[in-house]
Amino acid sequence: MRILPTLLRPNSIRADLVVIAGLMAASSLELRAAHSETIKPRPCDIYAAAHTPCVAAHSTVRSLYAKYSGALYEVKRASDHAVRNIGLLADGYANAATQDAFCAYTTCIITRIYDQSPRHNDLAIASGGHYKGPGPNGSDLGAAADALPVTAGGHQVYGVSISPGMGYRNNHTSGVAVGAEAEGMYMVSSGIHFNSGCCFDYGNAETSGNDTGAGHMDAISVIRDLEWPNCRNAPAAPAVGADLENGIFHWDKRSCNPASDVSDGPRPFISAWLKNDCRTKFALKWGDARSGGLNTVYSGALPNGYAPMHLEGAIILGIGGDNSHASAGSFFEGVMTSGFPTDSADSEVQSNIVAVGYGAPSDLTGSLKAGSEISLQATTPCCTGDYIRNQNGTAVIAPITSASPRQDKSDSTWIVRSGLADPSCVSFESKSNPGDFLRHQNAALHLQPFDGTALNRSDATFCPQPGKGKGNSFHSVNYPTKYLRHYDGKVYIASDGGANPWDTTALWADDTSFIVSPPWSP
Ligand code: AHR
Repeated sequence: MRILPTLLRPNSIRADLVVIAGLMAASSLELRAAHSETIKPRPCDIYAAAHTPCVAAHSTVRSLYAKYSGALYEVKRASDHAVRNIGLLADGYANAATQDAFCAYTTCIITRIYDQSPRHNDLAIASGGHYKGPGPNGSDLGAAADALPVTAGGHQVYGVSISPGMGYRNNHTSGVAVGAEAEGMYMVSSGIHFNSGCCFDYGNAETSGNDTGAGHMDAISVIRDLEWPNCRNAPAAPAVGADLENGIFHWDKRSCNPASDVSDGPRPFISAWLKNDCRTKFALKWGDARSGGLNTVYSGALPNGYAPMHLEGAIILGIGGDNSHASAGSFFEGVMTSGFPTDSADSEVQSNIVAVGYGAPSDLTGSLKAGSEISLQATTPCCTGDYIRNQNGTAVIAPITSASPRQDKSDSTWIVRSGLADPSCVSFESKSNPGDFLRHQNAALHLQPFDGTALNRSDATFCPQPGKGKGNSFHSVNYPTKYLRHYDGKVYIASDGGANPWDTTALWADDTSFIVSPPWSP
C-alpha cells in the first residue's frame, strides 16, 4: 500500500471554477418542424421488397419501416411507477425529448420495446428462465432508459445499454421461424461495449427459457467469446457469432474463426448479421454501422448436430436462451425476417444503417456530459500524474502515462452516465468492464455491476461541483456531505474532519479535487 508523501503538505492552489455542463436537451418541437420530408425506405421496406419480410423490428432509435407511426418503446419511472410510450418525430427518429421530460428528476427504465412489424412481437423485460434474474420473482432487470445517449439522424436519442442481469424476451410470438424455417436477422450493436459473459444475443430462442438442446436457438451474438480453444479475439474487440444453443458458432466448427473478430477498432457502432436456412447452411457478417459494407465471417454448412434446426420462435435480447444474463452490450436496432434474405438486400440495409449517422453525442469527450469518456486526474501535488483507476474491483489512484499498457489506460477511463439515481448528477461506468460502475460501499469506492436496485443506483451516483481546490469535486448523492477523495492511494467518500483516517482535514481540498481529462483509452 502506497502512503502518499504529500499528505502533510497544505492545500495551496484554487483554480477558476469550472462550469458543470447540464443535461443534454433537445427541442423536439423544433426538430419536428425541420424534418417533415417523406421518409425513404427503411430496413423492413427493403426486406419486404426482397420477399423476406420482417417478422420483428425493434429499435429505441428510429422507425424501421418508412410508414411506421406507432411507439418505439415504453419507459417506467421510479418516482411513481407511471409508464410512457416514446414515439417518433416526423422524420422517423425517436422523440427522446418525451423521455427526458417524463423522466426528469427521477430515473426511468425501458420496460418494453415495441415490435414495429405487423406481428406485434414486442419485447418485455425477461421473466427469467433456467437462470433466474436478479429482479422480482427471478425476472431480469430493465435497462436504464438514459444510460446510452447517442446521436442518430441528427437527433439525440437513446440506445439500450445492457448490463449483466438485464434482458428482454417474448416467448409467445407470431410469424417468427419455428422448426427448420429459414430466417435472417441483424442488430446494430457496439464494438466497444461488450464482455465475455453469456450471452449478448438478439434473435430466436426457446419459448420455455430453458436450454432444450442443439439447434433450438438462432440468435446473432456479439461477445468476446473465450469459449473455444485457441480463440482469443483481437484485443478489446468482440466477435460476431451465431448462438445456435449449446454453442456460439463462428463457423461450422467448435473453434475460433478469426474472421469473426470486429477488426481494426475501436468501432463504437457495428452491425451484426445472421441468416440461417435451418436445413443446410447459415451465414454471418458484420459491418461498421457508420461506414462501408459488410464483411463475411462465414457462409456455409451448419455445424454437425445442428441440421436441421429445431427453432421454437421466442425472441431474446441481451440474454441467452436459458436466460443466462452475464452479458453486457448495446442495442440500437434489430430486425428478424421470414425467409433467408438475399445478400443484396442485406447490403442495401447496411447502407440504410450507415445513412443514419450513428454517433456519440457530439463534442463530449473529456466532459461531464452523459456519453463522454473521461479520465479523472488527481490534483494533490504528490500525485498529479495519478488517475482514478480500477484495480481488481477497487478504485485507486495510480500513475498513467501515454506509455502505460493498454489495460491500465482502459482501467483508468470512465464513461460518464447520467446519474443512475439522479439525472442532474453523474455515474461512472468502467470502460474496461462495461456494465460495472464506480460505487461506494462501506465508504470505499469499488467497481460493481449496475444491478438496478435503489441502493446500487444511489451508491453509484455522484454530483459534480466546482473543485474544492482545482477542477471538480463530487459529492455522493446519498451522503451529500461526503466527497470522492483519494487517501493512501485508495478512493473513498469522505467527510471533512470526520472520524475515519480518510476524513482528515489535511489536504482535504486537494484530495477531493479531480481534473476531468480526456480519456486515456481511445
Ligand atoms: O449457446 C450458448 C448458450 O448456452 C445459450 O444462449 C444458453 O441457452 C446456453 O447456456
